[in-house]
Amino acid sequence: MSGVSGGVSGGVSGGGRDEHEVVFVRGDEEWRAHARAGEGLFAVARACGAPVETLCHGMGACVRCKLVVLEGTLTPPTPLERDRLGNIFHLTGERLCCQARVTGPARLELPRPRARRAPTGGLAGGR
Ligand code: FES
Repeated sequence: MSGVSGGVSGGVSGGGRDEHEVVFVRGDEEWRAHARAGEGLFAVARACGAPVETLCHGMGACVRCKLVVLEGTLTPPTPLERDRLGNIFHLTGERLCCQARVTGPARLELPRPRARRAPTGGLAGGR
């Protein structure tokens, strides 16, 4: 159990001494979780209902899970992440949610949802 809780504007619960508050924000919405150091950020986001986009289900291939670190730190970018994003993450704060792990409290900005495609070009099962 990850100790993750929350939902849109949900309250914070849990929060043992080894857990860190991780907040995902998108506009006026936010999703809060408590996670231990080393927990995968993608799983933390999923568990608290944060709407992280994905086409590759966390394999590091689609780059749809990109987010921006507003506050706090995560594990250093993996070689795969550097390959996908380049080395400008120091300037942009962009990271791949599926590659990063929790190291401490963090506040992370999710991108606004992409515009829907025309009905003939949509993805199966997409929202
Ligand atoms: S979920 Fe596809 S790159 Fe992260």
